[in-house]
Amino acid sequence: MTEISDIDTVKKEITSFSLDSVDALEAFRLKYLSRKGIISDMLAGIGKADPTERARLGKELNSLKKLATSRFQEAKAELSSQSTYKKSATDDPTLPPVPPQIGSTHPLSQTLEEIKSIFYRLGFTIADGPELEDDFHNFTALNFPPEHPARDMQDTFFIRKDEQNPSRNLVLRTHTSPVQIRLLKEQKPPVRAIMPGRVYRNESITAKSYCLFHQVEGLYVDNNVSLADLKHTLITFAGHLFGKGLKYRIRPSFFPFTEPSLEMDIWWETGNRPGQWMEILGAGMVHPNVLKAVDIDPERYTGFAFGMGVERITMSRYEIDDIRLLYDNDLRFLNQFP
Ligand code: DAH
Repeated sequence: MTEISDIDTVKKEITSFSLDSVDALEAFRLKYLSRKGIISDMLAGIGKADPTERARLGKELNSLKKLATSRFQEAKAELSSQSTYKKSATDDPTLPPVPPQIGSTHPLSQTLEEIKSIFYRLGFTIADGPELEDDFHNFTALNFPPEHPARDMQDTFFIRKDEQNPSRNLVLRTHTSPVQIRLLKEQKPPVRAIMPGRVYRNESITAKSYCLFHQVEGLYVDNNVSLADLKHTLITFAGHLFGKGLKYRIRPSFFPFTEPSLEMDIWWETGNRPGQWMEILGAGMVHPNVLKAVDIDPERYTGFAFGMGVERITMSRYEIDDIRLLYDNDLRFLNQFP
């Protein structure tokens, strides 16, 4: 049976109950506010009390419940405002703070930054052009004959066909060489620039090839630019990027937009793998037809150009054996490049 004196006792308990931890708060809730708690019990006991007392008991119990509820709410709010601090891993405020997670530069960007800084020191500026190119800039102005296999569906992502005027076909650029054309249309010689950017090829995706990758194009057009200048520039560049003991070779090659054309290989030995020659770039003297396409007199000016693949260089520097790793954004991979 519930009596007024019991209510008073419980009221005192509630008022003095120490609510200084999450555990104490839970004990309080169970003891007073739960369905099996003291206050529920007492409310249930009203039925057995003297009928003249019932109304008063009910009123007193309600205010007791209000008191318990408001103490509970206040203590809960107080504790949760401190909780980030109290609940941290060890509850030890003297520990140094956990450092924030900081991202790192993507290995491709690291290589690109290094390439840019080497050419910056050699006096090259930086230019860029659109990734969505027209046939004229990507092929025709670069002296690709109309039936050249590089225009084939297998390599090029064709975006729009213009039957009336094929020069206006739109493609995803297959190399950065079209930026040479855009730059030479804008700026008369002397021109000395590198042109980094993304390129696209319609190839099947494997460990060695991806549908997009990065190139850095280079161009130097002025009076009396010679093959010796080109060789010197390439050797200086490769020496800076790959280190002093560099072993390289320069081989004749073919590109429609250069004559003569060449390729540069470096001798690559890492870890326990046997050494091998690895091609790092194509280059050559700018073809007279290319200069004519941008209204530059090839009798008066000569130039050299080169183009290199950033993925290939990055993969050899860091011994990455699958190009797709560079595009998966897997943190287990990226975290290895602080
Ligand atoms: N555009 C060529 C390619 O994608 C690379 C290249 C070769 C660029 C020779 C040049 C160059 O500027 O002179 O394979």
